[in-house]
Amino acid sequence: MAKQEDLFKNVISHAKEYGYIFASSEIYDGLSAVYDYGQNGAELKNNIKEYWWRSMTQLHQNIVGLDAAILMHPTTWKASGHVDAFNDPLIDNKDSKKRYRADVLVEDHAEKLLQKAEKEIAKAKKRFGDDFDEEMYKETNPRVKRYLGERKEILERLAKSLTNEDLADVKALIEELEIADPETGSRNWTEVRQFNLMFGTKLGASAESATQLYLRPETAQGIFVNFLNVQKTGRMKIPFGIAQIGKAFRNEIVARQFIFRMREFEQMEMQFFVRPGEELEWYEKWKETRLKWHKSLGLGEENYRLHDHEKLAHYANAAADIEFDFPFGFKELEGIHSRTDFDLKAHEEFSGKKLRFYDPELKENYVPYVIETSIGLDRMFLSVLSATLKEEELEDGNTRTVLKLPAVLAPTKAAILPLVKKDGLPEMAQKIVDELKWDFKVQYDEKDAIGRRYRRQDAVGTPLCITVDHESLEDNSVTVRFRDSMEQKRVPITELESIIRKETDFKTWMKDFAE
Ligand code: GAP
Repeated sequence: MAKQEDLFKNVISHAKEYGYIFASSEIYDGLSAVYDYGQNGAELKNNIKEYWWRSMTQLHQNIVGLDAAILMHPTTWKASGHVDAFNDPLIDNKDSKKRYRADVLVEDHAEKLLQKAEKEIAKAKKRFGDDFDEEMYKETNPRVKRYLGERKEILERLAKSLTNEDLADVKALIEELEIADPETGSRNWTEVRQFNLMFGTKLGASAESATQLYLRPETAQGIFVNFLNVQKTGRMKIPFGIAQIGKAFRNEIVARQFIFRMREFEQMEMQFFVRPGEELEWYEKWKETRLKWHKSLGLGEENYRLHDHEKLAHYANAAADIEFDFPFGFKELEGIHSRTDFDLKAHEEFSGKKLRFYDPELKENYVPYVIETSIGLDRMFLSVLSATLKEEELEDGNTRTVLKLPAVLAPTKAAILPLVKKDGLPEMAQKIVDELKWDFKVQYDEKDAIGRRYRRQDAVGTPLCITVDHESLEDNSVTVRFRDSMEQKRVPITELESIIRKETDFKTWMKDFAE
């Protein structure tokens, strides 16, 4: 655990040192849970967006994009249920004055029981070797059975109390489980209260005539209200999807863990419209497709797990999270929800406009059902950084810090380095930059000894270094150094474009994983 905490601290400081993430308005001491992306962060973020956008809208003929406004008509949020139900249950500790999400306190307690069970299982696996039957062990080992049973009971009770809005029972659960303030150990809690997460703002010049608006807490509603616009103008037939990337805002009670939980963040959401009755089939398909997409980036299959929801949101008839093993444990990275016809029906009701599809095969009009895939761009960013930041021991006894970013996402694809700052090498290196820059983001770097420049590019995550030396002047060849293996290869300059393309191209990364 200590190691994981260290990793998290390292990720945060590395992100700052190498121009990935800065605290927002840092010169004024920052703003809680709001962050800015620096020169490398902006590139990495754009590359993640592009990887998602192209997978959705380019590899699927029946998915198109949208870019809806952040500000929407306020009735949108009445219809979607956000005004009445977009609440988190909060609890304060009377001694420490710290505020927590009551459900998260209980979930963290349940997670600890799971970790205890997993520890016992791992020990038994080691003891019994190949003969080990995990399922049988879970059912028969009294300790493991108790941990898992208690966990299940706790989560079921929490789900029931939240569904019934029984906040007194959530408080009772916290007391019965003897959950203490994680920072101080105090058990002196207030009652549990609901807190709406939407940020309000005003539209209009004078206070009297101003209209109450909200900063959107999810991008999805921009898709729902445009469903017919896109369907009709794009002549889309069901099943089809609308994808969108954009900012969302939530006044999170407990905003912590760096960019994991922010007050201003970005989502990449896709709503897939299907025939009623076919939604659960599509839901399973999208779970599988999205998991494959994540795995295509090679961050380690063991870092992902699917978690089916016990408590369903008011709009869903099935829901699961793709969780990622962040430095602070497995947490939600992406949500996949079968949202039924809740949203479109609600917008029909509140707007008085029909939001229906005429199905030429069935010869009937209906409100489509929706499968949603929703991933936080910033969380994805954090998963990429934390899975790829490594301290490596080298054969010569030295260590290096390397960010093994998937090359397709790396901010800079190649650094072009003249071995020395004279003899015409800088000019030749600059010429290579001028050739390659039309196709790739490349960077010229001539400062410091070559070894230090390699280390700097390793730390920032550049997959390839191209060194121009005296031999290059004679035979037009250069040395290509690969970040992960540190292997070096002599190649003709004319091959550089295809080498970089092979390492960094979207197709290279996606093609084994696309349907
Ligand atoms: N439209 C459905 C929706 O918004 P959600 O589970 O509330 O569902 C979807 O959010 C995703 O957005 C999450 O899986 C997470 O990756 C990201 N997300 C949600 N709240 C966030 C926050 N405060 N900071 C960063 N990312 C967040």
